[in-house]
Amino acid sequence: MSLQVPHREKQNGAGGHNTKAVILVGGPSRGTRFRPLSLDVPKPLFDIAGHPIIWHCLTAIAKVPDIQEVCMIGYYDETVFRDFIKDASHEFPELTIKYLREYEALGTAGGLYHFRDAILKGKPERFFVLNADVCCSFPLNDMLKLFEERDAEAVILGTRVSEDAASNFGCIVSDPHSKRVLHYVEKPESHISNLINCGVYLFSTETIFPSIRSAIKRRSDRPRLYTYPSSENLSSSYFNDDDEAKNEVLRLEQDILADLADSRQFFVHETKDFWRQIKTAGSAVPANALYLQKAWQTNPAELAKPSANILPPVFIHPTAQVDPTAKLGPNVSIGPRAVIGAGVRIKESIVLENCEVKHDACVLYSILGWNSRIGAWARVEGTPTPVNSHTTSIIKNGVKVQSITILGKECGVGEEVRVQNCVCLPYKELKRDVANEVIM
Ligand code: GDD
Repeated sequence: MSLQVPHREKQNGAGGHNTKAVILVGGPSRGTRFRPLSLDVPKPLFDIAGHPIIWHCLTAIAKVPDIQEVCMIGYYDETVFRDFIKDASHEFPELTIKYLREYEALGTAGGLYHFRDAILKGKPERFFVLNADVCCSFPLNDMLKLFEERDAEAVILGTRVSEDAASNFGCIVSDPHSKRVLHYVEKPESHISNLINCGVYLFSTETIFPSIRSAIKRRSDRPRLYTYPSSENLSSSYFNDDDEAKNEVLRLEQDILADLADSRQFFVHETKDFWRQIKTAGSAVPANALYLQKAWQTNPAELAKPSANILPPVFIHPTAQVDPTAKLGPNVSIGPRAVIGAGVRIKESIVLENCEVKHDACVLYSILGWNSRIGAWARVEGTPTPVNSHTTSIIKNGVKVQSITILGKECGVGEEVRVQNCVCLPYKELKRDVANEVIM
């Protein structure tokens, strides 16, 4: 079935602002794998490389000259993003940033459809959709170029992963020459391709909404065919302005993308740059490393100056106090008001706001939650995962454990205590050595 429709004349004239961006931020029932960190902050606002996860999305969006408006769509409470949007509006004055709240989880396509009038306001010809929980260089201008060159209806960002990792993602079969998407399958049971969906799209407004509408129609014609056993925690929903659709979430990945592949005007831009999902709390550590390395290339002034004790890239918040004899890096972020004592060693880790690390302690491959205290000579450590790995768990003594050690908010680690490959819930005091445990 072809979904191609005649191209509308540019409404905004040459050089007009005819592109928008949507960031899908999800809601409180998602991000459960990000616990214990998401118990205290909504995942999209968690600081990685010194900035909230969605700040990295906005930075990339701000580099597309054509975009003036960004809609964050999710089902968090209205108040959750208020301060962030206020700060971001100062930092990115060229962007109008809005939060559109779903009354409940509508699914990745359901949210777009529900807010179609807001997205279509100003008559944009196309819009980007970014999953908030990915870490990448977001090559949006390259996607836009491909979109224009091919007169596309949709462009998806793809990346290559190992064969065993591929089935955890949406998989794309494409023509390597034309870059056309020939086939799309969400999390297939058997291997079809190692080119996967990065969760970043560019859609033509004229195509995507009719395409979602057709999916809604199919749904209402044959409702029992549409269940998503794998989508966690999604409650039922309805479309109050369309009689056609009731009682289900609607997902871009399962309901829409395969159809777009049939339309033949669906293309993939394959990025060779970094890409990771931010799903588990531990995945914040590799994402932190990747964003710090990017900042080191593009904006080193934001990072700590290299020295005998600072191995770049390292981010130190201006309000943090770091003893000059502490050795930090590579890939370390130190949050506001953290205090790092003499002789401390920190590597491949995130230290959140108000933590105190006493003298001669060692923190490796770990996240220290807000207000945590690490005693003198203590060791808090995880295990490095291979550079290209897309998982943050490892097998130790035949048991699956977290490779990254994570302390929730306000944890304490006693003097000389060793904590290895553990996830520790908030407010725990660790007074003896622990390894490979979840401490509840
Ligand atoms: N607004 C809104 N409403 N956002 C949602 C909803 C919803 O009901 N459901 C999910 N999201 C957001 C999540 O917060 C996340 O940013 C994004 O949509 C995708 O989340 P999931 O639905 O959990 O999908 P996934 O991460 O398992 O897989 C998706 O992303 C992969 C790349 O990271 C798929 O698109 C895969 O194909 C893809 O490979």
